[in-house]
Amino acid sequence: MKETTVKQAIEREREVEEQGIQIQIENVSMTFKDNDGNDVQALKNINLNVKKGEFVSLVGPSGCGKTTLLRLIADLLEPSDGIVKVAGMTPREVRLQQKFGIVFQKPVLFDWRTVKKNVEMPLEIMKWRPEERSARAEKMLEMVGLTEFENHYPGQLSGGMQQRVGIARAPAAWWSTAAPIWRKCPPHCWRSATKTSFR
Ligand SMILES: Nc1ncnc2c1ncn2[C@@H]1O[C@H](COP(=O)(O)OP(=O)(O)OP(=O)(O)O)[C@@H](O)[C@H]1O
Ligand SMILES: [Mg+2]
Repeated sequence: MKETTVKQAIEREREVEEQGIQIQIENVSMTFKDNDGNDVQALKNINLNVKKGEFVSLVGPSGCGKTTLLRLIADLLEPSDGIVKVAGMTPREVRLQQKFGIVFQKPVLFDWRTVKKNVEMPLEIMKWRPEERSARAEKMLEMVGLTEFENHYPGQLSGGMQQRVGIARAPAAWWSTAAPIWRKCPPHCWRSATKTSFR
């Protein structure tokens, strides 16, 4: 790396720290291959800084790269070019520390598990004790207004209610740490959740 580039990089790091930037996207590009082996440029030179506590929505026409950007931040993809940092770390480091949750575009629930058991799933993987994960799941379900449905199965819920189970599950493990949440669901499900308790 040239001396000026090193200096610029150090200066940027200082700015990021001083301004409390939580998510840093710098000159990020992403190119996929289609079935014929042709390049599909999903993102080109994207720059975005998100500060701690900011609520950001990505809005744009279908296919413009919103999901791709979220997948890069969540370490579900690696950029073809550029830098992605979350809380000063690489997305991989953040994911391994289980510091964020993802609510998918479809709720992706396990049909054979009850609502409560779906919310407990990540806590089971993280080997929380049964009584602790039960208490946390109950708290999360209360927040999204689904306490009385905790013993129902996903197939017994409406689409919006299923999305709220997904919302309850995403941050279950780290709620108290106030880490970022990536939301990938239609606005109505978020609104119905916020109406009940995310105020
Ligand atoms: N795995 C992949 N392989 C090839 N092309 C892909 C892949 N993932 C996304 N793309 C392409 O990248 C572009 C951006 O897709 P992306 O899913 O990020 O769009 P989006 O903005 O989330 O769209 P929508 O609003 O419809 O969800 C599209 O042209 C899509 O076809
Ligand atoms: Mg999308």
